[in-house]
Amino acid sequence: MKILGIETSCDETAAAVAVGDGKSVRILSNIVSSQIEIHKKYGGVVPEVAAREHVLNILLVVNEALKKAGLNRKKPELDAIAVTIGPGLITSLITGIETAKSLAYAWNIPIIGINHIEGHIYANFIESCANNTENTTRDKNFEFPAIILTVSGGHTMLILMDDYGKFKIIGETRDDAAGEAFDKAAKMMEIGYPGGPVISTEAEKYKNKSEIHLPRPMINSDNFDFSFSGLKTAIRYALEDDKNWKEKTPEYCAEFQQAIIDVLIKKTISASNKFNVKTIMLTGGVSANKELRKQLKEQVLENNFKFSMPNLKYTTDNAAMIATAGYFKFLRDEFTPWQNLKVNCNLEF
Ligand code: KG4
Ligand code: ZN
Repeated sequence: MKILGIETSCDETAAAVAVGDGKSVRILSNIVSSQIEIHKKYGGVVPEVAAREHVLNILLVVNEALKKAGLNRKKPELDAIAVTIGPGLITSLITGIETAKSLAYAWNIPIIGINHIEGHIYANFIESCANNTENTTRDKNFEFPAIILTVSGGHTMLILMDDYGKFKIIGETRDDAAGEAFDKAAKMMEIGYPGGPVISTEAEKYKNKSEIHLPRPMINSDNFDFSFSGLKTAIRYALEDDKNWKEKTPEYCAEFQQAIIDVLIKKTISASNKFNVKTIMLTGGVSANKELRKQLKEQVLENNFKFSMPNLKYTTDNAAMIATAGYFKFLRDEFTPWQNLKVNCNLEF
């Protein structure tokens, strides 16, 4: 069973082909055209620019994904098209959706609408990638229920997953997402965009114990919600009060990153204990963070949970995760007739 995945919710134009055999999913192609270089000079994604880039790139990206998967463009042997319908930037989403609809209409195959967050979760279910030995890191005895720490530029959530397609949000951010906090802090320190990777690189340069102390918002609250806007304000004031902050950039980055990691790990482990889960999974763009991956894994194993995190290339936005989510929905017959497929930029999870 072969699925074409399409993702255009923010600033990556992506297409991928996944093949499933009832139990596992293999990625035959995974093409991502990133607009990071274009948005860098503005310090963030400019929706109008992103939309135009998607329109220019989408067919090239789809074509490349089909070619790499060895499929014929005119009548590819595909069983369905999975496409992100939200949440995201409406002008970006629309390009992916209308392309998916046109192709489904022309090829006469069904369409599956995917929630972007569900897509990120299914990055944990990619078993292997053609021509590549690096698979998703997942405990062989992985079992449900699982707690999924979903951390991206738009969302920070703890999700309870009881089975395929069975999710419940048990906590989320009340203001900024973790990725957004990384992006804003990097902007304040004038070190580049996107913030996560540059903060992580700067933080690696600092090897000592930090003398700067930033808060760990809501770390001891008796719920599983997060809040990162206070941390953002705290670093702003700390920088304003410190004449020498520029030369201490690595230390500020290390402390800022650690503050976020401490809160994420503490809440994830306590939610997993409370809900008595078997497995902890990590996902979303921030799951590319080296320290978060290392420290969370250590804590998870120490607390005797099973662990899963996506291969690095499936952490930030991609279409392999959308095709994989589509595959599991296909198994449950969750299709949408192309006439009814609608964009929903505020789609709830
Ligand atoms: O999932 P994603 O690609 O897009 C959304 O769905 O939002 O996540 C993008 C976010 C950005 O905020 C970016 O700064 C963050 O993921 N990110 C990272 C790292 N790589 C990307 N954050 C921390 N460390 C990283 N290495
Ligand atoms: Zn995303």
